[in-house]
Amino acid sequence: MKQQLVKILVIDDDPKVPWILSEGLSENYEIISARDGDEGIQMLSKNKPQLVLLDIKMPGKSGIEVLEKVKSIDNQLDVIMLSGHGDTPNIVESIRRGASEFINKPFDVKEVEIHIQNVLEQRRLRQELTQLKSVLKAKSQYDELVGDSPGILEVKNIIEQVAPSELTVLIRGDSGTGKEIIARLIHTLSERRTESLTKVNCAAIPRDLLEAELFGYEKGAFTGAHKTKPGRFEIASKGTMFLDEIGDMPMELQSKLLQVLEQREFVRVGGIHNIKVDVRIVCATNRNLEKAIEEGLFRDDLFYRLNEITIKVPSLRSRKEDIPLLVDHFIRRYNALYEKEVRSISSRAMKILMDYDWPGNVRQLENLIKQIVVRNDESIAYTSLEAVESPPPIRQTPHIPEVGETGYSLKKRVSNAIEFEEKTVIKEVLNKTNWNRRKAADLLGISYRSLLYKIKDYAITN
Ligand SMILES: Nc1ncnc2c1ncn2[C@@H]1O[C@H](COP(=O)(O)OP(=O)(O)OP(=O)(O)O)[C@@H](O)[C@H]1O
Ligand SMILES: [Mg+2]
Repeated sequence: MKQQLVKILVIDDDPKVPWILSEGLSENYEIISARDGDEGIQMLSKNKPQLVLLDIKMPGKSGIEVLEKVKSIDNQLDVIMLSGHGDTPNIVESIRRGASEFINKPFDVKEVEIHIQNVLEQRRLRQELTQLKSVLKAKSQYDELVGDSPGILEVKNIIEQVAPSELTVLIRGDSGTGKEIIARLIHTLSERRTESLTKVNCAAIPRDLLEAELFGYEKGAFTGAHKTKPGRFEIASKGTMFLDEIGDMPMELQSKLLQVLEQREFVRVGGIHNIKVDVRIVCATNRNLEKAIEEGLFRDDLFYRLNEITIKVPSLRSRKEDIPLLVDHFIRRYNALYEKEVRSISSRAMKILMDYDWPGNVRQLENLIKQIVVRNDESIAYTSLEAVESPPPIRQTPHIPEVGETGYSLKKRVSNAIEFEEKTVIKEVLNKTNWNRRKAADLLGISYRSLLYKIKDYAITN
């Protein structure tokens, strides 16, 4: 296979310089040349060189001025300065302004080649580092999607496969299951990661404003359209567009979206010209789109177009084995955020979380853990979940003493029954509040001191 040549732009008023270089350098390099700064700058955008060799002293624009211009056009482009006798102050200045190296004239071509190789190698390392950093960043984002249940592993697997492609993705799942995290991951793991992710929540923008918001409008398109305004699709160009709650997009806009999906172009409100866009589209919804189609609220052709790649996010109740990992993750997150040091929750609290049905999915779990961390009190789990979910505790029937124990003394029997009832209620409330005695006393409507006294008297233990 033929190796790609490294294109070097030589800017020097002395024509001998590019000539010596193209004769003397090995055949890995292609030399193009300009006689002054202006010509060099023009060639920069036209010929896209990988390296610039720039003379410090030239008629017209000085080397330093040209260097500044080159760097403002492409900051990553390496520039090697060629300097003559007595140029030391200029060399210092040019290094300060971003030149990668300098070579003294007259030069030995072999030496120049070594300088060039060094600069190119350094650039390769820099690029590798940037690449590694962005992969690391993407990987750490990946950790944001917590869970190792088969359901979540399957989701991660699809994300990994589809993210680098340009395919449109539809993310479906109940509210709070993590659809937005997934949309962001797809963007971060794609080639578009350095561009922006633009999110539009179709349910949050009033119907009559949504079209202008998405597609922009021309001056005078409607009352109040004083000037032309680009829409989110234009702003999102080169990046990813995340259309959240796509199931809520009004019918009349759906055909316009279909056109964007199929032809990557659209017309602004009140406009006549097609505008081309280069966006990757990711959508999410918790709506039943098949039902919406039946009801005439969603276009089936749009649905089929969106449905190319669908990620179905499982509900939390169907992957309860992820709960301990999620709890841990949120404890760490909110400890850090609120400077707390909650270690973990008790096994009793964990059992309650595992038994609960989680209609609000991960969002509900996150909110609960946040409260537990902020207040450093896991009894919130008992009060907010147990009360709703668990069946009322089965009361034992009071112990009715045998005749032999108390005789028929009514007083004794009644006091026994009261004692029993008191003990039962106190135990129940103490368990509910995770043995927070002050809270228990409040709930029981007695003073803290008398609760302590009763606990001792009845020998109630945890
Ligand atoms: N697997 C997960 N790991 C860590 N955090 C998660 C996970 N799933 C969801 N979350 C967290 O739960 C909250 C809700 O997630 P997200 O906003 O992505 O849900 P959604 O599916 O878009 O919900 P809705 O349909 O209501 O918009 C977020 O704070 C998110 O960080
Ligand atoms: Mg969402």
